[in-house]
Amino acid sequence: MARQPKTIGVLTSGGDAPGMNACIRAVTRAAVYGGLHVVGYRFGYHGLVAGDSRPLDERSVSNIIQRGGTILGSSRCKEFEGEQGRRKAAENLRASAVDALLVIGGEGSMKGAMELAGQWDGQIIGIPGTIDNDLGGTDWTIGFFTALDTALDSIDKIRDTAEAFDRVFLVEVMGRLAGDIALGVGVAGGAEEILVPETPEDIETIARRVREAKQRGKLSYIIVVAEGFCKGGAIEVAKRLSEITSLTCTPCVLGHTQRGGSPAAYDRILGTRLGVHAVDAAIDGATGVMVGEIDGNVALTRFEDLGTRRRVIDPAYWQKINAMLRC
Ligand code: F6P
Repeated sequence: MARQPKTIGVLTSGGDAPGMNACIRAVTRAAVYGGLHVVGYRFGYHGLVAGDSRPLDERSVSNIIQRGGTILGSSRCKEFEGEQGRRKAAENLRASAVDALLVIGGEGSMKGAMELAGQWDGQIIGIPGTIDNDLGGTDWTIGFFTALDTALDSIDKIRDTAEAFDRVFLVEVMGRLAGDIALGVGVAGGAEEILVPETPEDIETIARRVREAKQRGKLSYIIVVAEGFCKGGAIEVAKRLSEITSLTCTPCVLGHTQRGGSPAAYDRILGTRLGVHAVDAAIDGATGVMVGEIDGNVALTRFEDLGTRRRVIDPAYWQKINAMLRC
């Protein structure tokens, strides 16, 4: 029979994502409801290493579900990457009598959680929180839907000026090495081209399509570029396209705007659902797993089976989407 945890620690790590607060709130309230104590570590793994934590109760997570960012703060902690840093983290967890640690973050954070297990014998459970949607073990990551809406809003606005000026725009979106944000907003925003790392394209071919579209009388031409598509991203692609076509090709890097803002409804729902299930999993004695949503169901996946997901874009769909975009 698994030992019942008494104290749960929670932290947010890596790039912050809208919906992390909804998740912290759900974890805290589900744990309190289950008779557990909760401590929140500040600035991700940095808080674990430095022993920087604060108790959380049902009131300390009031009025945060609609807020972007994370009330706990986040970081990419260099010290935690070394064994000495992780040893300090483990000592602090023992000193605070934490039985189960819940880590909300992306791929690097899950890797950190897995490595901590080498130094600490408490329970460790991951929850996927990143705008990139690039993790295995879940169909969606907390923050992805808000990032889509934010980028889409910008693309709709850029369309207005692109149309007025008869201009080619290259809009760069985040996503590290995954093209999920680009694919999502490219389709939803009616872009003429979507450039993702998963499907390489050469600039000459893109330039030919832009010229042909202009000859057909197309006014605006929007190319969504995933940041991982090529070195230099949209700025580099715009420069090369301008050189080849002699058209004005204007880059627009949306950057960190995509990480902020009030979370979309589904990021709040997902954050809540996964937070509640992570606490249940801790109470059931689970460890070394991430809680995700697969095909609409909550699923636990072992850290070592997560990997980094490269979305396999269905080639037939990709072909049709591209044919439709370039009409
Ligand atoms: O992982 C989230 C993310 O926003 C990526 O999309 C992006 O590549 C990266 O973080 C940016 O990181 P930083 O804020 O550390 O520059």
